[in-house]
Amino acid sequence: MTDILDIKGAWKTYKMGAEEINALQGVNFKVEEGSFLAVMGPSGSGKSTLLHLAGILDLPTKGEITLGGKKVNELSGKEQAHLRRSQIGFVFQRFNLLSQLTALENVMLPMMKPDKKKGKEILDRVGLEGKYHRLPTQLSGGEEQRVAIARSLANDPILILADEPTGELDTKNSRMIMDLLTELNKEGMTIIIVTHDPMAAEYAQKTVQMSDGTIYE
Ligand SMILES: Nc1ncnc2c1ncn2[C@@H]1O[C@H](COP(=O)(O)OP(=O)(O)OP(=O)(O)O)[C@@H](O)[C@H]1O
Ligand SMILES: [Mg+2]
Repeated sequence: MTDILDIKGAWKTYKMGAEEINALQGVNFKVEEGSFLAVMGPSGSGKSTLLHLAGILDLPTKGEITLGGKKVNELSGKEQAHLRRSQIGFVFQRFNLLSQLTALENVMLPMMKPDKKKGKEILDRVGLEGKYHRLPTQLSGGEEQRVAIARSLANDPILILADEPTGELDTKNSRMIMDLLTELNKEGMTIIIVTHDPMAAEYAQKTVQMSDGTIYE
């Protein structure tokens, strides 16, 4: 199997005045195309930082990232943005929906070619038929998370990255979200979740642990 993602020797150092925080300390992380992975580990161990690098939302201080055969470090900012937009769906912690936009508008926002019909189809597939025009405040937490997942599907990504997808949800809604991610994985999408929730991690084919900015398997 080919690796869809290959992170080699990644360091991430945040500077806070005179203080330096090494959030990642030489992480090596390979992800096979079509797999479903969970990353677990204590708070502050670098999980979100790693997911942000995987999603090209941030770049490492040192190290190499290869995504879909492309070396991210060697691309221009514009090329990185295109790769991120066309290949990756990111599900942010705490939904991160725009509160003044409806469910449909939230889903259409990242589309490279705005397409209302497709937006509705994606909402249908996550079980939100008929709720296209609701604002986030008019949806339940589980429904908001489904909009967030729908939004991540806007450009038919090959890789979905989800930061604590069940973090805000009760067991029933958590299972619904994990079933949905499992279905997307069965359709061929590679899925990586970061989670504190052992029940969510059970859905993954493999779990890796992070601790102090490194991964051990
Ligand atoms: N923008 C930033 N500036 C400075 N330090 C940061 C920044 N983002 C994260 N950190 C620090 O980097 C370390 C790793 O943070 P990260 O958010 O990756 O942890 P995490 O494993 O996702 O934790 P949690 O489980 O609580 O979400 C922490 O010490 C955190 O305080
Ligand atoms: Mg985090």
